[in-house]
Amino acid sequence: MTRFLIRNVSVLGGAPSDLVLHDGFVAAAADGSEDVIDGSGLVVLPGLVDLHTHLREPGREDAETVETGSRAAALGGYTAVCAMANTSPVADTAGVVEQVWRLGREAGLVDVQPIGAVTVGLAGRQLAELGAMATSAATVRIFSDDGFCVGDPRLMRRALEYVKAFDGIIAQHAEEPRLTEGAQMHEGEVSTRLGLTGWPAVAEEAIIARDVLLAEHVGSRLHVCHVSTAGSVEVLRQAKARGVRVTAEVTPHHLLLTDELAASYDPVYKVNPPLRTASDVAALREALVEGVIDVVATDHAPHAVEDKECEWAYARPGMLGLETAFSIVLSVLGERWELIADRMSRTPARIAGLTGHGTDLAVGSPANLTLVDPSARRVVDPGELASRSRNTPYSGTTLPGRIVATFLRGEPTVLDGKAVK
Ligand code: DOR
Ligand code: ZN
Repeated sequence: MTRFLIRNVSVLGGAPSDLVLHDGFVAAAADGSEDVIDGSGLVVLPGLVDLHTHLREPGREDAETVETGSRAAALGGYTAVCAMANTSPVADTAGVVEQVWRLGREAGLVDVQPIGAVTVGLAGRQLAELGAMATSAATVRIFSDDGFCVGDPRLMRRALEYVKAFDGIIAQHAEEPRLTEGAQMHEGEVSTRLGLTGWPAVAEEAIIARDVLLAEHVGSRLHVCHVSTAGSVEVLRQAKARGVRVTAEVTPHHLLLTDELAASYDPVYKVNPPLRTASDVAALREALVEGVIDVVATDHAPHAVEDKECEWAYARPGMLGLETAFSIVLSVLGERWELIADRMSRTPARIAGLTGHGTDLAVGSPANLTLVDPSARRVVDPGELASRSRNTPYSGTTLPGRIVATFLRGEPTVLDGKAVK
């Protein structure tokens, strides 16, 4: 069935009306051929778009696959995700990005847009075949060594210059490597008390400051991954005021959680960049509302049990995000639907150049959308997640909001809160 009538639903917080989906598009009027969904009390948003998802395939299919990650995304209200390049083998060739793209199409649950590596093997020594990835079937536009920083300024400059030809973007994991050697958590009072090696805020801020200057010099587009400190916000604010072509993302966890959680020594709270202080969290929230930070991106980072349920120092950094991001953002921003749609759908779609996503849902728009129940509450049970991994920091937590249904080009991927396939 490819025709739906969602009755009495609020589009982006507006007065309740009927929304008709015909053959992949938002239609003007129902004709009785539709399946009916009662939308009373529900809100429709453009399908969420994630600029930063780790799908782990190829290489770590025990932690996640394109299919399980796509299902987690659909359940989280997403219709498109950008798949990070730190797979094994690394997505640094046309062959690997095409494989990920094809697996995404086969899963058919969200649009999977591969991100290509900036450097061969993420090793930071020589540029990967950016042009071949851009002209491949995967049409890569975003490149990132995420997990690692492109530390060499000359290489960073060359990468920015190279992608300018096709309006590409370098997405930087901003972490000055020499300043974070051996780092285990945010450098501050809590790390001192716990005796864990610190990851200082300046390691992030110094790279962002350098890279906005490089992007300005070259006239290219820079995107800053997972901004985590108040100081980074100030650097971005100044760069944007000068007209530098820079965009930035913040993760749900950096909008909510703080470094105090490391005191539990529970590695579920280990993440890179690390959880910061309450004043950083406050600055990030403000920057997101203002638009100094453009988008929320999950940095969904599934890890196998043996990589997470071990001593803090040996645990891999990262936490799940796709299935809880909407709820976290709702709890942080409240029911400001235009703002949520902008930061989680329209702006990420625009940055990634994903046409058909992040639309205004007017008649004729592709029916990429999600139906949410803002008044629902749920207790997060890791066992119920569609992700193949279990490393959510919200286990047992009651979160607001529920994704009721998600549609990809008019076809439901989620109905009644459950994956359709
Ligand atoms: O916490 C993180 N996990 N940060 C990164 O930059 C990489 C990611 C991963 O791949 O697990
Ligand atoms: Zn990263």
